[in-house]
Amino acid sequence: SKNIQKAIKALQRGEMILLFDLEGREAETDFTIAANAVTPEDVRWMRKDAGGLICVALDSEASEKLGLPFMADIIREANQCSTALNKIVEKGGDLKYDSRSSFSIWVNHRDTRTGIPDNDRALTINKLGEIVEKTLNGEDVHFGTEFRTPGHVATLRAAKGLVHERMGQTELSIVLAKIAGITPAMVVCEMLDDETGRALEKGDAKQYGKDNDLVFVEGEEVIEAYDIWLKS
Ligand code: 5RP
Ligand code: CA
Repeated sequence: SKNIQKAIKALQRGEMILLFDLEGREAETDFTIAANAVTPEDVRWMRKDAGGLICVALDSEASEKLGLPFMADIIREANQCSTALNKIVEKGGDLKYDSRSSFSIWVNHRDTRTGIPDNDRALTINKLGEIVEKTLNGEDVHFGTEFRTPGHVATLRAAKGLVHERMGQTELSIVLAKIAGITPAMVVCEMLDDETGRALEKGDAKQYGKDNDLVFVEGEEVIEAYDIWLKS
């Protein structure tokens, strides 16, 4: 669709877009931008106007090459030998609205101090984009030399089958990156409502997009565009 084309162009220019998943899933809208393009001002904008968790979605192949695990697997494994975890964990990574969580580990780049200020988080995010680009180009990189964990940026690992397997913003944003031909490391942050504290209603998120000149796309449009792109 024309709307998807606009979103793709915006992402290629390193601009923010708004990405809604699906009615009946989370029904949330995330601020979405390429990790490579993020500035400290964008981090400030996300935490003030979106208000959710600032995460970086990573391509499945890159995550595998970098050795990034699913947090749910780590917890399940640790649960076998930790009595502390045993007391509190029932199942690792179970969600009410999807088959599993996409969370991987939380990181800070080693050149940050605490990791939380806008410039620290922007640096961590930019460096995540860079390491994904390098590893996909076949360069020899080592995750642990560059990042420490735990940190203040959540990484999310996209499902191998992307939107054919899971339809979270994790996969939707990576599909958009693939169509756009940009590095598949994408920042997502949920929009919350300052009045109610809940997820911002779709209509309100659309209006925010209009007021701020940001493209608003829905999961269904992304899936349709991906299937066309796969055939082309
Ligand atoms: C981390 C989340 C968000 O919902 C984010 O949009 C990515 O998760 P998902 O792919 O499940 O939608 O859980 O803040
Ligand atoms: Ca989401």
